[in-house]
Amino acid sequence: MGFVSILGFAHRLIAERVQPGETAIDATAGNGVDTLFLARIVGAAGEVHAFDIQPQALERTAARLAREQPDAKVRLHLRSHAEMAAAVADEQHGRVAAVMFNLGYLPGEDHAIVTRPNTTVQALDAACRLLRAGGIVTIVLYTGHPGGQEEADAVERWAEALPQREYQALLYRFANQRNHPPYLIAVEKR
Ligand SMILES: C[S@@+](CC[C@H](N)C(=O)[O-])C[C@H]1O[C@@H](n2cnc3c(N)ncnc32)[C@H](O)[C@@H]1O
Repeated sequence: MGFVSILGFAHRLIAERVQPGETAIDATAGNGVDTLFLARIVGAAGEVHAFDIQPQALERTAARLAREQPDAKVRLHLRSHAEMAAAVADEQHGRVAAVMFNLGYLPGEDHAIVTRPNTTVQALDAACRLLRAGGIVTIVLYTGHPGGQEEADAVERWAEALPQREYQALLYRFANQRNHPPYLIAVEKR
């Protein structure tokens, strides 16, 4: 049967916690797979904010949404996820159910446009402030591209430093896969 994949496990953790009608964030829209996934969970009464710094990514996400027609309200933001707090309405601060990060580069586009440690850590701090109690941040990390290992190290240091009374942090990774497999860090706000 095999273990659940990295992305599959992130989706499972999210699906177990996010309720219809809630607000969720895709911090790295890319091809829009996670945006659509979140939109389907929050449903007609819910809202999804999706961020990317590349117009092509938001175009791909918009095309996927147009094809799949989820009921949720989805707002696409062409800006860094480090600025997510400014893009989300004040009344939603402290009420966001989930924030998903899928780091690295957009497949099929310029591999030099990647998520970076400083802005990623800023965005993770912002995500934690936006979360409701019981809400979750998932981060899929890649170490195979230039700068990926440094970013993953920074995210691991960030997660290890979270106060245990306020957050639970989980690491999910395959121990014997070759060629820099992705892995997952998930953080739940208590
Ligand atoms: C691995 S892809 C995301 C894949 C996506 N979750 C999906 O379902 O297809 C990473 C994305 O992060 C975006 N990105 C890079 N830096 C960013 C930043 N500072 N803020 C938001 N997105 C960023 C890239 O443009 C790229 O589209």
